[in-house]
Amino acid sequence: MIILPINIEIFFLFDALAKAVIYVILKEILNHIEGGPMDFLELNKKNRSYRNYDAAYAVTEEQLKKLVELTRFCPSSVNMQPFKYYLSCDPETNGRIQPLTKWARALQPMEIPKPGHYPTAFIVICYDETIGPGVERFWKDVGIVAQTIVLGASEMDLGGCMIGNFSPAKISAALELPATLRPVLIIAIGKPKETIVLLDAPAGSSLNYYRDEQDVHYVPKRMLSELLINKR
Ligand SMILES: Cc1cc2nc3c(=O)[nH]c(=O)nc-3n(C[C@H](O)[C@H](O)[C@H](O)COP(=O)(O)O)c2cc1C
Repeated sequence: MIILPINIEIFFLFDALAKAVIYVILKEILNHIEGGPMDFLELNKKNRSYRNYDAAYAVTEEQLKKLVELTRFCPSSVNMQPFKYYLSCDPETNGRIQPLTKWARALQPMEIPKPGHYPTAFIVICYDETIGPGVERFWKDVGIVAQTIVLGASEMDLGGCMIGNFSPAKISAALELPATLRPVLIIAIGKPKETIVLLDAPAGSSLNYYRDEQDVHYVPKRMLSELLINKR
């Protein structure tokens, strides 16, 4: 008969502890290698306004629903949660929305997105007129849900662009929306197919975004020192 030198319970306790330590170490390593969960600053930098997409990558209804699910947990004035979301990820519906959206006003007359690089999905954020005292109270809420959606898209390795330059009446007609739903912002979604470079903009320099001959898109951002009112 073999007599174990240690009590069997202690052995299992040490075994479980060793596995827990290995799990924590492996998770930390995975967090730091490419493809692992991103640091929040990096996610924010990755989350740009993309305007050219891989037309062969079809965003699914399920992915769009996951993005809208994120908005359920956003803050909302008086917690009224007044938005409803119209999802489009089929070519026919996308084809009704795309021509009504206006892109990169600062780069006109450049054609953006380029033909064949249109987004493969849209989320149309609508204010439900039957909720709350009027849309004016909720303009800030629109930004919060919209940014949550595009950050979520970036985290899923997709990309988006907020489109405020559209006619709500034309979108309502194209999508046959009920009169009580007012489109307030459109978010294009897809697999980005362009390079965007962030630039530090010294105080007083131009904030115009621009593209070079290779179609790389540059976005100047004000420096932290210029944003701070005190404690510079
Ligand atoms: C409320 C809002 C509305 C916008 N509307 C449009 C639009 O109609 N068309 C467009 O191409 N980009 C639009 N944009 C994207 C901005 O042009 C973009 O945020 C800006 O150029 C900075 O680029 P970045 O998002 O990559 O930092 C909008 C952004 C916001 C926040």
